[in-house]
Amino acid sequence: MGPREHPLSEPRRFWIRTFGCQMNVHDTEKVANLLHHAGYGAAGGPADADLLVVNTCSIRAKAEHKLYSDLGLLREWKAEAAGRVIGVGGCVAQQEGDAILERFDQVDFVFGTHNLRRVPALAEAALSGRRAVQTQASRSLDRFDLPERHPDCAGATPGRAFLTVMEGCDMFCTFCIVPTTRGREISRPAAAIVEEARQLADHGVCEVTLLGQTVNAYGRHDVRRGRAAATGTMPFADLLAQLDAIPGIERIRYTSPHPIFFDAELIRAHGELASLCPHVHLPLQSGSDRILERMRRRHTCAEYRALCAALRDARPDVALTSDLIVGFPGETEADFQETLELVEEVALVDSFSFKYSPRPGTRAVEFPGAVPAAEAQERLERLQALQDRLRFAAHRIRVGQTTEVLVEGPSRRGGSQLRGRDPYHRVVNLEAGEGLTAGARAPVRIVEATPHSLIGEPLRAGTQDGLKTGHGPADEMRRGEPSRARSMEATG
Ligand code: SAH
Ligand code: SF4
Ligand code: F3S
Repeated sequence: MGPREHPLSEPRRFWIRTFGCQMNVHDTEKVANLLHHAGYGAAGGPADADLLVVNTCSIRAKAEHKLYSDLGLLREWKAEAAGRVIGVGGCVAQQEGDAILERFDQVDFVFGTHNLRRVPALAEAALSGRRAVQTQASRSLDRFDLPERHPDCAGATPGRAFLTVMEGCDMFCTFCIVPTTRGREISRPAAAIVEEARQLADHGVCEVTLLGQTVNAYGRHDVRRGRAAATGTMPFADLLAQLDAIPGIERIRYTSPHPIFFDAELIRAHGELASLCPHVHLPLQSGSDRILERMRRRHTCAEYRALCAALRDARPDVALTSDLIVGFPGETEADFQETLELVEEVALVDSFSFKYSPRPGTRAVEFPGAVPAAEAQERLERLQALQDRLRFAAHRIRVGQTTEVLVEGPSRRGGSQLRGRDPYHRVVNLEAGEGLTAGARAPVRIVEATPHSLIGEPLRAGTQDGLKTGHGPADEMRRGEPSRARSMEATG
């Protein structure tokens, strides 16, 4: 295909490729919204786009390399038509900044994780031939000052939305690059969060997923310094209670919490707030105290166990999922065995597990005791085999239960089936039926378990009452068989 002239009557079209965690997915939504407000239209794919944005992740080397292989292909994409421009954002952009423009002449602009609002201006400049970089880190709340959802953005995930409550991370776990790429913790005023949730509810959103790198650290610095009244933040549990009170918000999720920021009020909230989903994604990383210490996770295995037990006391059917790392420097076979044992003991319903990847700029790159790649791979496979077994077992326990599915769209299994998620964040596939469109909530009976998902049968309206996420039918489950159902949520 030869170079194509852009018909001036059409709006410029953008396409965004996203890598990484939900925060990045939501940043992509924010950039798309800003571009719509600036008069751009969404392209159907790279082929009809004028502006292509890559929103990058640098959590592991593999994620970062995806950008570099992508940029090779994008050089060809750019050459196929006149006037095409490429922008790079996200965590690699934040870290590398200018170096990306210098190394890749096909890239027109680079924007950091605190500079989303600059994208329309950067894109305009690029379309008129000016290359630029904006990666200034900021400690200001300005970055949350974004326009309302443009009508063209509203329908992407019917019924569901992400909602940023805090950003950044002050924890500096020794393996992790996020504190460098996302900067210091900053919490939005509760009133702005509640107002955004109200607007979402007005637009038919019933499920919000609260986002933050350490989401339950929300407000902690302000509360500790006695500044919460001045900044408008509050303890995380109080924020959850305010959101729970909003009419129309039926499901509240949050990700990712850090185990050390669960206080008694947050644990209690899981037993009290009707819309708080019975699922907690609780990153563990390792089941060995020695390794947790070297990772600087600031808690022990005993504390993690106690937290799982406390959550189950508050909400017996709560589904627990986690993130795990194998092959951290110095991890012995005995340490790894402890991880397997703890995963089994707390009955994780699901987990994301990763081979340790050394990240330049983190403390662990200097740690001795590198685990050979083959050994790390073998540990990963054993951990995943255990997780497969635990997940399938948790699914089988669900057969016969009633639950509520929020329909997301067509099933990946094909055919006429739909896919959605229950309050535990399990994927449930069900037959399409009247009124069952994306965004609808349907009472279903679980009729079959598969290793990766559940199969549900819609119940006739009126056969179940009180099918709320919180304590309606769930009470039935709680009295009956405390389910170890689960779900998963990614941050990376
Ligand atoms: N804020 C979350 C995690 C964010 S990163 C928390 O505190 O748990 C998502 C996951 O990526 C982490 O939980 C960890 O399991 C994994 N991860 C982070 N850095 C990694 C690295 N260098 N190598 C392998 N996995 C890593
Ligand atoms: Fe922060 Fe989580 Fe990374 Fe630790 S693992 S530094 S808590 S983002
Ligand atoms: Fe950044 Fe999220 Fe990846 S914070 S490094 S995009 S996991």
